[in-house]
Amino acid sequence: MSFSHLPLVMEIEQQAYPWPWTEGMFVDSLRNGHLCYVALEEGVLVGYAILYVAVGECHILNICVSPRRQNQGLGQKLLEYVLAASVDHGAEKALLEVRPSNVAAVALYQRAGFEQVGVRKDYYPAGSEREDALVFTLPLGRV
Ligand SMILES: CC(C)(COP(=O)(O)OP(=O)(O)OC[C@H]1O[C@@H](n2cnc3c(N)ncnc32)[C@H](O)[C@@H]1OP(=O)(O)O)[C@@H](O)C(=O)NCCC(=O)NCCS
Repeated sequence: MSFSHLPLVMEIEQQAYPWPWTEGMFVDSLRNGHLCYVALEEGVLVGYAILYVAVGECHILNICVSPRRQNQGLGQKLLEYVLAASVDHGAEKALLEVRPSNVAAVALYQRAGFEQVGVRKDYYPAGSEREDALVFTLPLGRV
C-alpha cells in the first residue's frame, strides 16, 4: 500500500466497517513502517491488510475485502499472504482482536487455525454501548 491508494482504501473501509478507520490511521501506519498491503485483481484494489511485527509477534490491525468481493475466498488468500510475509519479518506468532458479532471474520480466523485466548471487555465502540474483543492467536512457522 502506498499513499496513492488511500482514496480507494477509504472507500472500501467505509463500506465494509460500521466503525471504519479514519484516513489518519492509515497514514500513521504507512509512516510508522507497519506492513501495509493491498490486494489487486487485474489492477483493481479489492482488499488490504495492515499489520506490524514486534518481538516475534505479528499484530493484525486491519484486514478487509471489498464488500463486492467478500465470501469468495479472497480474505483467506490475503490472510495467508500476510501471515507468510510476517514470518519473513521474524514473526513466530500472530495476534489479533475481533468483535464477537463479526461472524465472517471469526470464521476466517478459525478456519486459518487461530484459537481464542482471551476477551478484552468493552474494547470497541458500539453505538452508545461498547463491545468486547475476542483475542485470537496462531503460532506461525507452519503457514
Ligand atoms: C472478514 C473478511 C476479511 C473475510 O473476507 P472474505 O473474502 O469474505 O472471506 P473468505 O471468502 O476468504 O472466507 C473465509 C471464511 O470465512 C467464512 N465467511 C466469509 N464471510 C462470511 C459470512 N458473511 N458469514 C459467515 N461466514 C463467512 C467463509 O465461509 C470461509 O469459511 P469456510 O471456507 O469455512 O466457509 C471480510 O468479510 C471483510 O472484509 N469484512 C469487513 C472487514 C472486517 O470485518 N475485517 C476483519 C476485522 S477483525
